[in-house]
Amino acid sequence: MYASTVPMDSSKLVLLLSFSYILLHQPSLTAAQPNFAYSNCNYNSVGNYTTNSTYQRNLNSLLSSLASDTQIKNGFYNLSVGEFPDRVNAIALCRGDVAVDVCRSCVNDSTHKILEVCPNKMGAYGVYSLCMIRYSNSSIFGVVDEQPSYYQWNGKKVLDLTLFNQALQTLLARLRAKAASGNSLKKFATGNQSAGVETIYAIVQCTPDLSEGQCSSCLLDLFRMITNCCDGNVTGKIGAKLIRPSCNLRWEAGQFFNGTLEILPSPPPPQISSPISLPAPAQGTKSNTARIIVITVVSSAVGAVILVICICLFKRTRKQREKERIESK
Ligand SMILES: *[C@@H]1O[C@H](CO)[C@@H](O)[C@H](O)[C@H]1NC(C)=O
Ligand SMILES: *[C@@H]1O[C@H](CO)[C@@H](O)[C@H](O)[C@H]1NC(C)=O
Ligand SMILES: *[C@@H]1O[C@H](CO)[C@@H](O)[C@H](O)[C@H]1NC(C)=O
Ligand SMILES: *[C@@H]1O[C@H](CO)[C@@H](O)[C@H](O)[C@H]1NC(C)=O
Ligand SMILES: *[C@@H]1O[C@H](CO)[C@@H](O)[C@H](O)[C@H]1NC(C)=O
Ligand SMILES: *[C@@H]1O[C@H](CO)[C@@H](O)[C@H](O)[C@H]1NC(C)=O
Ligand SMILES: *[C@@H]1O[C@H](CO)[C@@H](O)[C@H](O)[C@H]1NC(C)=O
Ligand SMILES: *[C@@H]1O[C@H](CO)[C@@H](O)[C@H](O)[C@H]1NC(C)=O
Repeated sequence: MYASTVPMDSSKLVLLLSFSYILLHQPSLTAAQPNFAYSNCNYNSVGNYTTNSTYQRNLNSLLSSLASDTQIKNGFYNLSVGEFPDRVNAIALCRGDVAVDVCRSCVNDSTHKILEVCPNKMGAYGVYSLCMIRYSNSSIFGVVDEQPSYYQWNGKKVLDLTLFNQALQTLLARLRAKAASGNSLKKFATGNQSAGVETIYAIVQCTPDLSEGQCSSCLLDLFRMITNCCDGNVTGKIGAKLIRPSCNLRWEAGQFFNGTLEILPSPPPPQISSPISLPAPAQGTKSNTARIIVITVVSSAVGAVILVICICLFKRTRKQREKERIESK
């Protein structure tokens, strides 16, 4: 179970939401577009465009180019359409480990969803689990964009805080250097680090239009937020995502990213089996900790029951599935 918080205008207004972890990990493969995990309709611009304006035509043309692109294979899309003052610039970015077809489908979904969520907006930003999109009338290429920030974390605590923090810092420092030194097609790194009995798995990523120095500093700022963020003190949390337009990171105690050689999915971390869906969004912070603990305890118990059912179902369907695998080869 994840909780999340979105600091708006330097933590003036904090909006707290809880998510069903499982929903966030559904690949966007269906025709109906899933909801964004986070969206902001005043991205880089606070204005509205009028219906049938040149800006709208440019935006529509740009979004449909993004949706139908079949050339891009590295998961980074940057396009501009039109001339000042009606020029629209857009960036879409897939998480660095997702397959090309999954990425295209996610970007396609995002181009439709962003218009639905932010109608007539000069600038907008939408975040899915596997990709994000943003557009603006201002230039957004080669610029470190750290607002808005979006966080989610897993309510579960780590076993040994000191050990975990040391391992996390070591891992993130290593991944930062690796991602920043990536080329102009991809700036992404994955890795793992043992922290006693736990192993931390993490990804870090920048949009590859940033220079090595820009990527490095974007990530460094992001790392600082781990210990120093509004209500989202994610220190000691077993999993967290910190997402900004220009760079993002995530860690978990189990492998959640797609290893290049790893085709079969690894055993999911325990929270993935959480069957509780979409607790009502809550405002304010007072009851948050208590709520997370309650949700964690309840979901652990229900999760155990589900697990037993799953094992039974798995045993029953195993033979059939093995047959299907062979047939689909
Ligand atoms: C993009 O999504 C729309 C609606 O979800 C769908 O109709 C269309 O076929 C998709 N386009 C591509 C290129 O996948
Ligand atoms: C973008 O649009 C906003 C709102 O209409 C406007 O204030 C701003 O000057 C525009 N920026 C550019 C670069 O055109
Ligand atoms: C943009 O439109 C929204 C309603 O769609 C309105 O509330 C807002 O005031 C408008 N903003 C500007 C700058 O015109
Ligand atoms: C936009 O254009 C369409 C088709 O040209 C027209 O039917 C519609 O009334 C226009 N809307 C506005 C608000 O001008
Ligand atoms: C993970 O990689 C496999 C093999 O390349 C691919 O089939 C699968 O779609 C990938 N998963 C995601 C989420 O991209
Ligand atoms: C963990 O990291 C080591 C190198 O640090 C790597 O060899 C190994 O493949 C990684 N394991 C996973 C599951 O990513
Ligand atoms: C998009 O990014 C690539 C690589 O970072 C760069 O070469 C290209 O000029 C960019 N396109 C636009 C329209 O800025
Ligand atoms: C964040 O949480 C950690 C561990 O729970 C605690 O040691 C630290 O003081 C907290 N930091 C802030 C700024 O609240």
